[in-house]
Amino acid sequence: MRIHSTIASLRAALDDGGRVALVPTMGNLHEGHITLMTQARSQADTVVATIFVNRLQFRPGEDFESYPRTFGDDCEMLAQAHVDHLFAPTEAEIYPQPQGYHVEPPPEQAGILDGEFRPGHFRGVATVVMKLFQIVQPDIALFGKKDYQQLMIIRNMARDLNLAVEIGAGETVRAADGLALSSRNGYLGEAERTEAPRLFRLLTKVVEEIRAGNRNFAGLEREAMEELARHDWVPDYVAVRKRIDLQLPTAHDSGLVILAAARLGRTRLIDNLEV
Ligand code: PAJ
Repeated sequence: MRIHSTIASLRAALDDGGRVALVPTMGNLHEGHITLMTQARSQADTVVATIFVNRLQFRPGEDFESYPRTFGDDCEMLAQAHVDHLFAPTEAEIYPQPQGYHVEPPPEQAGILDGEFRPGHFRGVATVVMKLFQIVQPDIALFGKKDYQQLMIIRNMARDLNLAVEIGAGETVRAADGLALSSRNGYLGEAERTEAPRLFRLLTKVVEEIRAGNRNFAGLEREAMEELARHDWVPDYVAVRKRIDLQLPTAHDSGLVILAAARLGRTRLIDNLEV
């Protein structure tokens, strides 16, 4: 695997790369990321991973500074997954001057759910992903369903702006007890780590209720939030939405997804399950 810290070096290496797949990450890699690399490997001649902790998508007071940076381990995992090129730029390479132009996703997509609790987050994500698309010019780019709203926003960005990139999705990879793998799981203390899979169990319960015919979505959301609060979580939302646009479903809609975000101690966890 070749490691590039500059755009020029990466671009030169990608000349003649055939079909190129891109997997953008912020590092601290785990099996969720690696599954995307494997998927990329099977769909392209050249696989490019990126590691860049993107300041633009963090709000003041969020964990930009403390976000885990484990470059050595990440490189080993990527090499083992047969990634061809790792692009790991400095902040000055991506933002040589303060970013002036931004990709602004529409508020009905970026102002709801996580966007409501992290204003500006998806603008930061869309802007850096657009820049990475321009830098790498991939034929396909892969994103995880773990970040369901992010995936939807990037898909819509690619469609709305006629980007010549296909967007692929990877299923959420979980620990044996159901907890979705996340770089932020490392923030959990021992007792919190034991408690954390409750989020997945609750989502599973909501999915089962809906499959059994319960269409009182607001009631299901409320009960799930209450159960989290009873176990000392601070829930931001539990929401039953339409998969396609994450808008509110009617009682007759199918193709649903349940999304949740909640804080356990100082760690904010998100998860979702399709119905
Ligand atoms: P990061 O959180 O590092 O995630 C990189 C990619 O891995 C994303 O597409 C995410 O959805 C996927 N991923 C994370 N955990 C996963 C899991 N348990 N199972 C499957 N896929 C998982 O998402 C970002 O970085 C950033 O916002 C980024 C897109 C790189 C822009 O900065």
